[in-house]
Amino acid sequence: MTENEQAAGDASAHEESTRHYYETRDVDAFYDAVWGGEDIHVGVYRHAQEAIADASHRTVRRAGDRIADLLGPGSTVLDLGSGYGGSSRALAERFGCRVVALDLSEGHNRRHRAVNARRGLDHLIEVETGSLGDLRYDSDHFDAVWSLEVLCHVTDRERALREAVRVLRPGGTLIFSDIMAEESTPREALRPALSRLGVRDLATLPFYLSHLSRLGLRAAFDDLSEHLATHYARLANEVAHRTDELRSVMSPAYLDELLANLPLWADITQRGLLRWGLFHGTK
Ligand SMILES: C[S@@+](CC[C@H](N)C(=O)[O-])C[C@H]1O[C@@H](n2cnc3c(N)ncnc32)[C@H](O)[C@@H]1O
Repeated sequence: MTENEQAAGDASAHEESTRHYYETRDVDAFYDAVWGGEDIHVGVYRHAQEAIADASHRTVRRAGDRIADLLGPGSTVLDLGSGYGGSSRALAERFGCRVVALDLSEGHNRRHRAVNARRGLDHLIEVETGSLGDLRYDSDHFDAVWSLEVLCHVTDRERALREAVRVLRPGGTLIFSDIMAEESTPREALRPALSRLGVRDLATLPFYLSHLSRLGLRAAFDDLSEHLATHYARLANEVAHRTDELRSVMSPAYLDELLANLPLWADITQRGLLRWGLFHGTK
C-alpha cells in the first residue's frame, strides 16, 4: 500500500468513527437537550450565565456580519459540516441567499431538512450527505464557504482547506471557526478531554494562518478564546444541574461520561490551553 492510499484509508476510517459518534443516540440527546438543538459550536457570551443556545447563535450572527457584503438573493454559501442546520437557516433567513449544506451524518441531515421544511426554507437550502474532504462542486463556484467547529474532526486539514478554497469564487470569503491547541500546550495535556469526541489532536493558530496564506488568501483571525472557558463552564454546570432530566433522554453510562469529561474541558479552557475564534479570508 502506498503512503497516499494509507492516508486515504485512515481518513475514511476516521470519518466513519466521527459519523458514528454524531449518530449515537446519547450524543444526539446531549447536543439537542443541552445546546438547544440548532447550533453545535462554541458561543460568544454576553455574561457567564447566558443561555448556551443564545450565545451559540451570537457566533453565527458574528460570522454572518463578516460576509454580509457578499450575500443576498442570488448568492450561494457552502456550509461544510452543517450539523442540525442552525447556520444554514440563519444565513438563508438573514440574507435570502441559497445555501448548500454538506454533512457526513445522514441523521443530522434528516433533521436539518425537516426543520427547513417546517420553517419554509427548503427552497433556499439544499442538504447533502458527504465529506468535506471530497467536494464534488465546480471550482470558483461559491460566494462564501462557511464551516463552524468541524475541522477539529478532520485528519487532513490541509486538504480540507485546499478544497474549500478551490470551490470558492475569486473575491469570495472562506469563514470558519475551530477549537485549537495553544501553541505551547503539550498534546498529552489535551488527550483525556478530547477522548470523548474521538478527536486525535487539534490544529494551532499558526498552522491555519500559514496554510491560508499559502493558498493565496488574505486571512485574518478574530480571537474569541476568552469565551471558551465560559462555554465549557456553562456546559459542565448545565449537565451537573439537569442530571434528573437528562437521565430520561440518555443512558446512565453516557451521563456519567459527560459528568466526568466536561469538567476536564472546563479545566483546560480555564488554564488557557486552547484557542478559539473565527478565521476569514478572501480569495
Ligand atoms: C460540532 S458539529 C458542528 C455543526 C455545525 N457546523 C454547527 O456549528 O452547528 C460538527 C459537524 O461536522 C460534521 N462533520 C465532521 N466531519 C465531517 C466531514 N469530514 N465532512 C462533513 N461533515 C463532517 C459532523 O457530522 C457534525 O455534524
